[in-house]
Amino acid sequence: MAAQIIDGKTIAQQVRAEWKERADALKARGITPGLAVIIVGEDPASKVYVANKVKACAELGLHSEHVVMSADTAEAALLAKIAELNSDSKIHGILVQLPVPKHINSSKVLEAISPDKDVDGFHPMNVGALATGNMRFAPCTPYGAMILLEKCGVPIEGKHAVVVGRSNIVGKPMALMLLQHNATVTICTSKTVDLAKYTRDADILVVATGKARMITGDMIKPGAAVIDVGINRLPDGKLCGDVDFDSAKEVAGWITPVPGGVGPMTITMLVANTVRAAERATR
Ligand code: GUN
Repeated sequence: MAAQIIDGKTIAQQVRAEWKERADALKARGITPGLAVIIVGEDPASKVYVANKVKACAELGLHSEHVVMSADTAEAALLAKIAELNSDSKIHGILVQLPVPKHINSSKVLEAISPDKDVDGFHPMNVGALATGNMRFAPCTPYGAMILLEKCGVPIEGKHAVVVGRSNIVGKPMALMLLQHNATVTICTSKTVDLAKYTRDADILVVATGKARMITGDMIKPGAAVIDVGINRLPDGKLCGDVDFDSAKEVAGWITPVPGGVGPMTITMLVANTVRAAERATR
């Protein structure tokens, strides 16, 4: 039987409406949640992502600031900008779009953001909070993927979840969240020997490798929930995921398309984290 296609666009709209209500409740008390997005350099993909993040905030009536810094910005200047935003009461969330240029130490930058305004959830304190089961701000992409699983009623507790990819932005936090929901979790990497042995045993398969269509239908357990976090551009200009959608959808129980699956959720969870940061700041 063909898989249920998880409609990330529709679910993202529903979740956005829920968070808009919370933002409106804050605004009624005179507090407008505010997000600052910093981009350093001219990476075209980053520019599109950042523009979409700022647009989503505007659509929900949030305050947003778009800080553009040139590719040769000194690390100290970026740190000074972060310090300024840390003490700006109009700003509840701060995000530095990654990657930053090579001469800037990204760990130093992420650690400079106040943990209370770290809506990306990348500060070591927030990573630690997630790892110890006291989630404060979860990284937006895996957080969005978890919400998709929950909204679709995919059983998680006791199930075998396999995460392919071990990045700090997706793979590791995804694994921690699944573990927190009592899944049995396996993390695979690009070096995993006989990857298919693991993926074929997965009730939930999350793929975040950046390798176009690397997971094919024969690597998927019948009925599994397949979450494709990849976005790759093919030579013909079309977008595709890390999963070969056409063969996978014949085997899986649920599957996210690319585009229109996890992507729309990422920005929604950024808005959610910004509203949550503003709620916390007023407590
Ligand atoms: N670059 C790719 N994904 C992300 C993300 O979720 N946050 C930031 N800050 N940069 C990214």
